[in-house]
Amino acid sequence: MDHWFRTLLFLGAFLFPALLESSVRHYKFSVVSKNITKLCATKPLVTVNGQFPGPTLYAREDETVIVKVTNHVAHNVTIHWHGVRQFRTSWADGPAYVTQCPIQPGQNYIYNFTLTGQRGTLLWHAHISWLRASIHGAIVILPKRGIPYPFPTPDKEKIIVLAEWWKVDVEAVVNQATQSGFPPNVSDAHTINGDPGPVPGCSSQGGYTLHVESGKTYLLRIINAALNDELFFKIAGHNLTIVEVDASYTKPFQTDSIFISPGQTTNALLTANQGIGKYLIAVSPFMDAPIGLDNLTNYAALRYKGNPANPPTILTSVPPLNATPLAHAFIDSLRSLNSEQYPAKVPLTIDHSLFFTMAVGVNPCATCVNGSHLVAAVNNVSFVMPTIALLEAHYYNIPGVFTDDFPGNPPIAFNYTGNSPSNIQTMNGTRLYRLAYNSTVQIVLQGTAIIAPENHPTHLHGFNFFVVGKGLGNFNPEKDPQKFNLVDPVERNTVSVPTAGWTAIRFKADNPGVWFLHCHLEVHTTWGLKMAFLVDNGKDPNDFLPPPPSDLPKC
Ligand code: C2O
Repeated sequence: MDHWFRTLLFLGAFLFPALLESSVRHYKFSVVSKNITKLCATKPLVTVNGQFPGPTLYAREDETVIVKVTNHVAHNVTIHWHGVRQFRTSWADGPAYVTQCPIQPGQNYIYNFTLTGQRGTLLWHAHISWLRASIHGAIVILPKRGIPYPFPTPDKEKIIVLAEWWKVDVEAVVNQATQSGFPPNVSDAHTINGDPGPVPGCSSQGGYTLHVESGKTYLLRIINAALNDELFFKIAGHNLTIVEVDASYTKPFQTDSIFISPGQTTNALLTANQGIGKYLIAVSPFMDAPIGLDNLTNYAALRYKGNPANPPTILTSVPPLNATPLAHAFIDSLRSLNSEQYPAKVPLTIDHSLFFTMAVGVNPCATCVNGSHLVAAVNNVSFVMPTIALLEAHYYNIPGVFTDDFPGNPPIAFNYTGNSPSNIQTMNGTRLYRLAYNSTVQIVLQGTAIIAPENHPTHLHGFNFFVVGKGLGNFNPEKDPQKFNLVDPVERNTVSVPTAGWTAIRFKADNPGVWFLHCHLEVHTTWGLKMAFLVDNGKDPNDFLPPPPSDLPKC
């Protein structure tokens, strides 16, 4: 750096100390109701700033983001910044009754957090009841100024938010399910950037169009913001190069279909290198268990600029609903970039080795239609939400809100992926698992076959984890760890635990606070498939959770 630039910088820093600090981005999120028509039906929708999907939050790595959320609707609201590490800012994480009380109608709360050590795409969404159906949007974390992507710089970027649409009020759908004890009604369409595409029974839908210019390369930032459906994404005639998932760079690999679970994000390079044509884009659901879901495919189109108005349509085959091999092939191709600049810091020694069963069950319910209702549990504990935030109860030592005795193993061992045990009732509890600061954790997430084996996209707040292993059937603690990938496993915040199988993850508890872990299928979260970790402060004052912001909402 030449001398006088340094002098200038010094003078600048003297006169404007803020110049030396990394910059701050301010956003205003106004939660408002807006009438929206889709699928030939109009309903009032709870939105941020009247948009569906909501506004995109842009920032660079290391920048601070300040979002003032004002609640103008009749529902309680919170916003979660899904995948943001939230170092020392557990208060800004957002899950209702976990890190904060909800923002009540007419109130506001300022979320203030810094994007440290992450770059790529994430999403934000409401984290209370099922409001995230319509309150969600993209988070784009650009690399620090002057730092290139570790892949060829794309000419342009496009955000693609996948979601689900119900013709009726989604809160009514979940309330009806909770009262009856039955599964909730499935959605009426899968949307691409808010567009439901052509849907039977309603002819006016045009479908989403991805406009491209011949010869250019696009970075697609694909987000699954659906509530309950894992999805495939395909473009006819074009390969995609995967370069990042969950805001962590991956070793690039080519594929013609992307598998993406709710809460996950995938960045893919697309080169517009084909001839004249309208290329179909298919977004279709994945379900390899005998469980009802919205099985509609959304057809969109990729169009080249300058093409004739009605070019030939190039079709693509839609993966079958139960395309398990395709989903696994995609998952198995994911590896951390693990370069000098972006190393994979996989914990190699483990302080807490945990084994969590992820299960659905049936409990008695006097007011429900059949006298019983569907529930779900981790290690047979169906998590009961408290009435004040867990993080406040922890910070202020308020007794009686939670216990810290969450079991590290299921209460009884059984053939998890075999026949259901005779008793499938679960226990209720608000139980947390306590971790010392900087301890290392391995969790084997074991799917079960109780009622029906099912896939569980499991999300951990506040951390990225490494997916060190996965398999079908029951985890074998002798044999399976020998096959773990401790070199370049993919690093992410949400992982799909395979149907009747298991996934092993590792992370380091380097962030004090209360951190939610749950299935990101909203139906399973509602049924209790969730728990939380409590990470204590470290010894150094920098390793303490600071006091809550003064505007933290009250219950
Ligand atoms: Cu994206 Cu706890 O959620």
